[in-house]
Amino acid sequence: MASDTLPSADSRERAEARLARLSAALEASERRLQRLEVLYNVGRALNSTLDLSTVLNQTMALATQALDAHGSSLMLLDPEKRELTFEVPHGEAAGALKQLRMGLDEGIAGWVATHNEPVLLNDVRSDPRHAGRIDSATRFTTRSLLCVPLQVGTGGQTRTIGVLEVVNKREGGFTEDDLEWLRILGGQAAVAVENARLYENLRAQRDRIIKAQEEVRHELARNLHDGAAQVLGALILNLDNVRRLVKASPRKVAGELDYLENLARQAHQQVRQLLFELRPIILETQGLVPALQAYAQQIRAEAPFEVSLATEPIPPIAREAGAMIFAVIQEAVNNAKKHAQARYVWLRLRPVNGFIQVEVEDNGVGFDVGQTMETYDQRSSLGLINMRERATLLDGRLDIYSPRPDGERGTLVRLTVPLACISV
Ligand SMILES: Nc1ncnc2c1ncn2[C@@H]1O[C@H](COP(=O)(O)OP(=O)(O)OP(=O)(O)O)[C@@H](O)[C@H]1O
Ligand SMILES: [Mg+2]
Repeated sequence: MASDTLPSADSRERAEARLARLSAALEASERRLQRLEVLYNVGRALNSTLDLSTVLNQTMALATQALDAHGSSLMLLDPEKRELTFEVPHGEAAGALKQLRMGLDEGIAGWVATHNEPVLLNDVRSDPRHAGRIDSATRFTTRSLLCVPLQVGTGGQTRTIGVLEVVNKREGGFTEDDLEWLRILGGQAAVAVENARLYENLRAQRDRIIKAQEEVRHELARNLHDGAAQVLGALILNLDNVRRLVKASPRKVAGELDYLENLARQAHQQVRQLLFELRPIILETQGLVPALQAYAQQIRAEAPFEVSLATEPIPPIAREAGAMIFAVIQEAVNNAKKHAQARYVWLRLRPVNGFIQVEVEDNGVGFDVGQTMETYDQRSSLGLINMRERATLLDGRLDIYSPRPDGERGTLVRLTVPLACISV
């Protein structure tokens, strides 16, 4: 009968409710799928470039778009200054945000970076951690917000390098799903940012090495031109003179030959010195202390200052480490020659409590170290930065004092290297 085959109103309602639940679940799955697809594309996009600003821009554009938000910002941590720097943000307040930096004790971003925990807020203004300063500076009102830490490394070795923040959901509020999604994006972005930064550092280091090599070649050419080449030129001229004297006045020849021998010795000494500067073989065959003794002797012969050398025996160290320490000493001595107008230069090498300490001290005019370092990128020089880089490569530190620590005029360059890293 018809009434037996038709569903009752009750069961029809149940069926409709089930259908509604199914279609809601389907919609949610579709949204999740869409987001997974975006994440997949993010992964591909972020891995396809090593350009830092592209990585940053892409991360923010994707986060804003996928979470249907008004804007996003990515802040990188400056661990030395304990500040977060806004990196090319994406969205309405972007222009004003570019110049902003905020302390780690400031705002929700600062909290996320120090606590390494994400934050989801749909009523930002009622949260005491919110930094009104940024909103006033950007004339932007933050209503809702998602913020996740950007971390690299695994296990106990994780390091926070910044935070990723998305603000003002266009419709409704942010959800736990949104937060989870942003965490995953943050994970991918952090690795991409770190890779891009490592790559930038490598490129900068490579450029500096190339520039340093160029400098060495120019210096070599200058020294050869002003030194050995001039002396050899004089030698040739005078040889011609001697040839004539042999016939005209043979008694004068012996004196002339003495003079020529002197010139030849000068040229020989200059070439040997250049060779030593370029590649101190004694460093490779006998080690740092004998190399330093030979070097001190050499500068004593030609430098306009007195040189005193104090060394104490040190344990055997790796060849490359010895070469790097020696290069730091050479640069510090060259700086004393070029800039200090000093009367004395002291060289010291000694082991101190598990470290090797090397000092080059002069009593010259000194210089403003802080100001020189601040304006370093406007100079064409490389010496100080090369010394610092070598110290870092040796896991050590470079301290430059001017005036010297005892308050006297002049400069003290001190390199301290942990023996554990360099002994063999
Ligand atoms: N011992 C020193 N006494 C006085 N001034 C110094 C001394 N060492 C460095 N300076 C100052 O610091 C500046 C930077 O030194 P740095 O070694 O980086 O460059 P540079 O010697 O001028 O050039 P480069 O080393 O690249 O050939 C020098 O130009 C000089 O003004
Ligand atoms: Mg220099």
